[in-house]
Amino acid sequence: MKGISSPKSIPFGRPMIGDTEITAVQRVLEGPTLVHGPLSREFEVQFAARAGAKYGVSVSSCTAGLHLSMLVNGIGPGHTVAVPAMTHVATAHAVEFCGARPLFVDVEHDTGNMDPDALTSSLDSSLRCIEVVHYLGLPCDMSLMSAISERTGAILIEDCALAVDAEYDGRKAGTLGLVGCFSFYPIKHMTTIEGGMVLSDNKNIAEAINQRKSFGYDHALGNRSRPGIYDVTELGYNYRMSEVQAAIGLSQLDRLNEFQIARATNHRVLKTYLDDIDEVTVFSAKKGKAVSSHYCLNAVLPRDGSISRDAIVSELNAAGIGTSVHYPSAVPLLTYYREKYDYRRGQFPNAEWLASQTISLPVGPHLGTKDAEYIGKTFKDAILKARN
Ligand SMILES: Cc1ncc(COP(=O)(O)O)c(C=O)c1O
Repeated sequence: MKGISSPKSIPFGRPMIGDTEITAVQRVLEGPTLVHGPLSREFEVQFAARAGAKYGVSVSSCTAGLHLSMLVNGIGPGHTVAVPAMTHVATAHAVEFCGARPLFVDVEHDTGNMDPDALTSSLDSSLRCIEVVHYLGLPCDMSLMSAISERTGAILIEDCALAVDAEYDGRKAGTLGLVGCFSFYPIKHMTTIEGGMVLSDNKNIAEAINQRKSFGYDHALGNRSRPGIYDVTELGYNYRMSEVQAAIGLSQLDRLNEFQIARATNHRVLKTYLDDIDEVTVFSAKKGKAVSSHYCLNAVLPRDGSISRDAIVSELNAAGIGTSVHYPSAVPLLTYYREKYDYRRGQFPNAEWLASQTISLPVGPHLGTKDAEYIGKTFKDAILKARN
């Protein structure tokens, strides 16, 4: 039975680094090639194959991937990009890096995903891109999003930071739009420490991202007729992944099935404890054609604030259970965006509800089912106590 040694110290997330990763890293460090090597290429091939995509481009983070995905598709000043109001700030920052303007759209009350109706009613002629986020790993309604993309001519980019292996209509997240971007930050589904991957079936897009992630060199290091000689045709960045990171990524890919089974099992076990608590909304791991990647279990407390999130989180933390919040503010209400675009409280009711009342509970592979049961029972007790 898996699980941490003491049920009284369950962090929200913990990177699953073991002997395989350590040996793989050591092998790279003892060799001659730390960047521009074969492992990042191999990682790209294997990650893309798992998702069923034609091309994978490794990058230094999901944020870098989102930035380049929009940049190489010509998103820039004068354009707007639809972004869900409830997401990590990186989704919006990537738009700002391009000089475009994020058009924040409220999210659905039962999934946290961008609301297609709210999107439709806020469309304007400068829209060039719809950046969907599969909130906590449950894919958006991609049939509707694709239809809006086709109707408006706006490209569809998937932010899959929390959606490794999530599925829509039998296809993996990251292959449902023009481009999909993943994160390998330490407590994601799998890690490369920092790191990301861009997937696409479009060769030109993959090649353009490859060039922009490496200063805009016209010839990659291993592809030069004379060492050290290159031209630069684009303003590029240094958004590469190192061989050490790729080695960790390959080891993690070998263990990913095991991680995902543990996540799904822990999510199912924990959810059974929460499903019959009237005051708590738990988003389903399935909706229509969408199946979640089970990043975490989010328990959302009532809109009217009748149960205080701080009180519940304090009870959980006192019992040794780590929690998180996805995400702590509707992005348009973060100071940078609020001041720049003059957003006000009340404009994004569902995103604001989640920001103030959601609690992310752990379901990662560092937990065993006994841990999930313990979290469920403790959570339930905390709600009972808050009722009195
Ligand atoms: C939805 C979403 N997008 C993007 C990111 C940023 O990922 P990275 O840290 O790899 O840039 C995160 C990070 O948690 C995220 O949750």
